[in-house]
Amino acid sequence: MTQLIDKENLPKHIAITMDGNGRWAKEKGKMRVFGHNHGVKAVKDTVEGAVEYGIKFLTLFAFSTENWNRPRQEVNALMTLLISTINKETKTLMENNVKLTSIGDISKLPEKCQKELSEAIEITKNNKRMTLTLALSYSGKWEIINAVKEIIKNKIDAESITENIFEQYLSTKNVPEPELLIRTSGEHRISNFMLWQIAYSELYFTDKMWPDFRRTDLKEAIINYQKRDRRFGRTANNKYE
Ligand code: IPE
Ligand code: IPE
Ligand code: MG
Repeated sequence: MTQLIDKENLPKHIAITMDGNGRWAKEKGKMRVFGHNHGVKAVKDTVEGAVEYGIKFLTLFAFSTENWNRPRQEVNALMTLLISTINKETKTLMENNVKLTSIGDISKLPEKCQKELSEAIEITKNNKRMTLTLALSYSGKWEIINAVKEIIKNKIDAESITENIFEQYLSTKNVPEPELLIRTSGEHRISNFMLWQIAYSELYFTDKMWPDFRRTDLKEAIINYQKRDRRFGRTANNKYE
């Protein structure tokens, strides 16, 4: 029996660490970039699936602060792919009523990339069905340090700082915390992604390599999430028995 998603218990925000492109290519005797190219299809299907299932916020970890340390050819290939994908897919985002945003140190991206990205963000800014956030040149530690710098620059009184106020200085200030974080490729680690925001996220790991990930895999992750008991430090059903 195929299981259905419970529309009453949807995660509002799903974050995905898209991992395994290089190993997927290597298994096929190809260069790593072959895997990145095939990852685009997975992105497209996952975004469309998320829209279909009624997810309001989807964040994709596409390039980390640490990924700058990869060989230059790989970084260049990823940046070129990013430019062409954003350019090609803006139309699909419009058709699906998806608003594009980004988090990360965008100023580090090549100018052409920044331009393509800001154009797509501008074109899609009034779309309402889902917000798609690309994490680019992003890391959780970078973001937290950035928030601290802003707080100091703004001379905020130390005693007035609460969790809610701190969150206003994070790049995710307009996005709820992800209820569900998915990582592909069988690696069981966070790799500096959304360190603050995943405090109580449900983690879901799959051995699938990112280029093989499809909306049905997203569905499976959502159904798995819906079976979990999220206690937030309380006892089950808040009972003592
Ligand atoms: C994910 O795949 C894409 C990025 C991190 C940019 P990888 O490139 O990390 O592929 P593996 O993990 O080496 O297989
Ligand atoms: C995490 O994957 C970053 C992205 C998917 C963009 P990595 O492949 O960079 O992470 P590690 O090196 O396995 O921790
Ligand atoms: Mg990897």
